[in-house]
Amino acid sequence: MRRPIVIGNWKMNGDSAFTGDHLRSLADKWAGVHNAEVAVCPPYPYLSLASDILEQTNIAWGAQDISVEKNGAYTGEVSASMLADCGCKFAIVGHSERREYHAESSELVAKKFKVAVESGIVPVLCVGESLEDREADKTFDVVGRQLLKVVEHCGLDVVAKGIIAYEPIWAIGTGKSATPQIAQDVHSYIREVLGPEGDQIKILYGGSVKPDSAEALFKQKDIDGALVGGASLKVDDFVDICKAAE
Ligand code: PGA
Repeated sequence: MRRPIVIGNWKMNGDSAFTGDHLRSLADKWAGVHNAEVAVCPPYPYLSLASDILEQTNIAWGAQDISVEKNGAYTGEVSASMLADCGCKFAIVGHSERREYHAESSELVAKKFKVAVESGIVPVLCVGESLEDREADKTFDVVGRQLLKVVEHCGLDVVAKGIIAYEPIWAIGTGKSATPQIAQDVHSYIREVLGPEGDQIKILYGGSVKPDSAEALFKQKDIDGALVGGASLKVDDFVDICKAAE
């Protein structure tokens, strides 16, 4: 039985006033016992604020990226062990915006995944194809390659300690979510690639998830929740998506 999870990826948005108000309101609206797990990933400067506000709540917090290095002379980097030390539970690795704007390769992403697990952080590995890949019928190829890099580098036992997020690039921030069927097909392919271990690994969908599209996505047998960007910045929308995952 895979417990559903919804993770908010705030990207580079918000300030301390927004973060404080948003998280207090979210904690209030999500209080009580829930079947779905909820986490938010605000920008680095606000993680300690998130840690303080969320401490006695049922909402976890995570980072949007981690360094591949463990410590040392790496100006500007933040290590997984530092984040774990501060109470961080999750870290997104290999988001398409990092692959694209920071030239992160699948090799680097695989190393980050391993470092996260070794540090006690649950990595949320993003995989997904571009519109061009999809139109050229290369979706499974691209997603399979991104995934196998991590499996080869870490081994399936380590992969099983993380979460996979299928995020088709053409759906991210475009308002054009994948249909439940398109998402389900890729999720089921990912599970097939992972083999028997795949049964216990959570696979989230990400890409323009909104309150009105969430329920149909979550009804699919291989969709275990969502990684939510834009809609996670609106408390009510985010809570509605979390409720749909229950
Ligand atoms: P979106 O972003 O929900 O705004 O499409 C999702 C993501 O990039 O994780």
